[in-house]
Amino acid sequence: MMIGVVGLGAVGMFLVYSLNRAGIEPLVVTRTWHEDYVFVVGGERVRLRFRRVGSLPPDVKRTLLCVKAYDTSNALKSVVGAVTVFQNGIGGLELARSILGRAYGAVITYGVTRMGGTAELRGTGEIILDDVYIAELLERGGVRTRVVEDIDSHRWLKTIVNAAINPITALLGSKNAVVLSDPWARSLAAQAVSEGRAVVRRLGIGLPEDPWTSLIRIVEATGENTSSTLQDVLAGRPTEVDYMNGAIVKYGAMHGVAAPVNRALWFAVRGLVQAGLASRRMAFLCGACM
Ligand SMILES: NC(=O)c1ccc[n+]([C@@H]2O[C@H](COP(=O)([O-])OP(=O)(O)OC[C@H]3O[C@@H](n4cnc5c(N)ncnc54)[C@H](OP(=O)(O)O)[C@@H]3O)[C@@H](O)[C@H]2O)c1
Repeated sequence: MMIGVVGLGAVGMFLVYSLNRAGIEPLVVTRTWHEDYVFVVGGERVRLRFRRVGSLPPDVKRTLLCVKAYDTSNALKSVVGAVTVFQNGIGGLELARSILGRAYGAVITYGVTRMGGTAELRGTGEIILDDVYIAELLERGGVRTRVVEDIDSHRWLKTIVNAAINPITALLGSKNAVVLSDPWARSLAAQAVSEGRAVVRRLGIGLPEDPWTSLIRIVEATGENTSSTLQDVLAGRPTEVDYMNGAIVKYGAMHGVAAPVNRALWFAVRGLVQAGLASRRMAFLCGACM
């Protein structure tokens, strides 16, 4: 079966690497093109095998969508056949479902970093998904997968946890450990998690694990890591905060549950990104005046 991949960033490259190991060379749609695509695992550099196409042909049966949440709308135009969305947050998969009728979802707990066309596996984990066919292919390629019926409960769990860790670390400019080691940060994180818990309860979603227990486990395991939101802020890139804290606030508002701490964290990170842009512009203008 012909497999398409849309978005060849960190996650897209990890999936292509795994498909290659399962004996599959997918068709790939990219936005930015790099001459070489290399995936690094345990120090070994592996050149990825795939065919780059401008658009996926109609006989593609499955598309793996691997773009950031805020790029979903555009990227969905490239999807052919059934789609599995490999993404953090709430909103991208919901958009795919509303446009396509049906879409599979996934939660990734592997850690992959990327610089241009080189990506590196930095942390092992698993991919939780509701797509049995893609799970079997990825398993064959060496990925630890777990098939679940209710992917949304896993997506919400990760979103609630990320919505506490990511903005706080971005605002404090600190590694993940700060969320537990600093009493003020810890209290803020506990309140953010508690609001997220209240929202999913009202949505009727049963979480697979208590989010505070999950947060403690994750922060203890990744204390020295820099969250993706802090990385984005430092690099002046947009963040996915609209799909984390923003989603908790919006779904809460739709169901009469207030989430003021998540709202404050959401707006503060948005402000931080804007302020970053403003200070770079200011530095540019001052430089231009001299
Ligand atoms: N990296 C991880 O370890 C990890 C772990 C768990 C979950 N996630 C989640 O997985 C998702 C993807 O993250 P990532 O780290 O892979 O991000 P990434 O490295 O930025 O990759 C996203 C890629 O999608 C491309 N893209 C955007 N719009 C496109 C379009 N319309 N058509 C084709 N390509 C398009 C981007 O192109 P450009 O290069 O032009 O921007 C970029 O190469 C996010 O939701 C993230 O939170 C990531």
